[in-house]
Amino acid sequence: MTVTELFTPPAAAEQPVEKLVIRRPDDMHVHLRDGAMLKAVLPATAGQFARGIIMPNLTPPVTTSDMAADYRTRVLKAMPEGAEFTPLMTCYLTDRTDPDDLIRGFEEKIWYAAKLYPAGATTNSAHGVTDIDALSPILETMERLGMPVLIHGEATDPAVDIFDREAYFLENTMVKILERHQGLKVVVEHCTTEQGVALVRSYAPRVAGTITPHHLYLNRTSLFQGGLRPHFYCLPVAKREHHRLALRKAATSGETCFFIGTDTAPHLRTAKESACGSAGVFCALTALQSYVQVFDEENALPRFEAFASENAARFYGLPLNDGTIELIRKPSRPLVSLPVADVDVAVFRGGEEFGWSIGETRV
Ligand code: DOR
Ligand code: ZN
Repeated sequence: MTVTELFTPPAAAEQPVEKLVIRRPDDMHVHLRDGAMLKAVLPATAGQFARGIIMPNLTPPVTTSDMAADYRTRVLKAMPEGAEFTPLMTCYLTDRTDPDDLIRGFEEKIWYAAKLYPAGATTNSAHGVTDIDALSPILETMERLGMPVLIHGEATDPAVDIFDREAYFLENTMVKILERHQGLKVVVEHCTTEQGVALVRSYAPRVAGTITPHHLYLNRTSLFQGGLRPHFYCLPVAKREHHRLALRKAATSGETCFFIGTDTAPHLRTAKESACGSAGVFCALTALQSYVQVFDEENALPRFEAFASENAARFYGLPLNDGTIELIRKPSRPLVSLPVADVDVAVFRGGEEFGWSIGETRV
C-alpha cells in the first residue's frame, strides 16, 4: 500500500491547489521494529522518505555489525513492491561495544552512526550505557572515524523530575561529552526543550538536532486534554508550551543544524492503552503533512526543503537525494490506525483533517 492509497480525501469543497515540490526527504530517526510490525509500518516511512536512520533498540538490541547486516536484510525483504527506500543502520552502544567491530561496520557501510541510550532512559534501553565516562575510548574512535553518535539525552536518575530530564542531562552529561571530544559529531535526538535547541546552536555545525512532528504539536498539557492521552506519550515527554514554541522556531528558522527525525515509534494499541502504557508515537504516516503545516503556519515554506532534505545529508556526509516529492495544499484525512497482527497501531493525528496532502514521488 502506498501512502497516497492510505489517504482518502474528504468530499469537501474544492480548494485552490498549491504545490510544493521538494527533493526527496530523509527521516534521521525511525523505529521500524521487526516481524509483523516491520511489515505493517515500513510502507508508511518508505512512502514519505528516501532514506531513514534505523534505530537499533530491538529485543535483543542491534549491537554488532553482523546483527545490523541481518536486520537490514529483513528490512529490505519487508519493503513494499516498488518502494525506493534505503535503510541506514545504526549500532546500539553498550558497556561492551567492540571497537574493532564498530570500525568494521562503519568502514563497510553496514552502519552510519551509533545510538547512545543511557541505560534505562527509554524503551529497550536496558542494555544501554551505564557509565558514560567509561565509553570515552569508543567515542574517541568515533571521533577519529567521523562517525556520528546519536544521543538520547535524558537523565536516568529516578530522582530527577521527568520534565527536567533532558535539560539535566544536557547540562551534566552532554556538555562533558562535547568538551571531552571536541571533534565528535553528535546528534541531540528529539529535542524537546529550549535548552536542547540552544545547546545544538552553540555547538553547531558538528552538533545537530532532530525535531519530531509530535513535539511541534504537543505540549505537556496535551497529554491530559479531556483525559489521559496514552497515544501522545513518548520519551522525552512533551514539555511546557514555551518549549514547543522554541522547537517550532528552531525547525523553521533555516538553521542548518536542525533536521527531520520523526522518532516514529509504533506500539500496539494494547501496549499503549494499558495501566502502564509504552512510550512512543507512530507518526510515520502523517509526518510530512504535519511538518509542512508547521512551516506553513510559521510562514516558512521556502525553508522546508532544507530542513527535510538537505541539512541531514550534509551533516552525515551523504549525497543529496535525486528524486522529488510533492506536497499539495489539499485536504486529506489519514487513517485512524494501521492494522497489525489482529490489533492496530494508532496513527498520530489519524482521522483528523489535514490541510496538506502528499502528491507524486519521482525517484
Ligand atoms: O517514545 C519513545 N519511544 N522514545 C524512545 O526513546 C524510544 C521509543 C520506542 O522505541 O518506542
Ligand atoms: Zn527514538
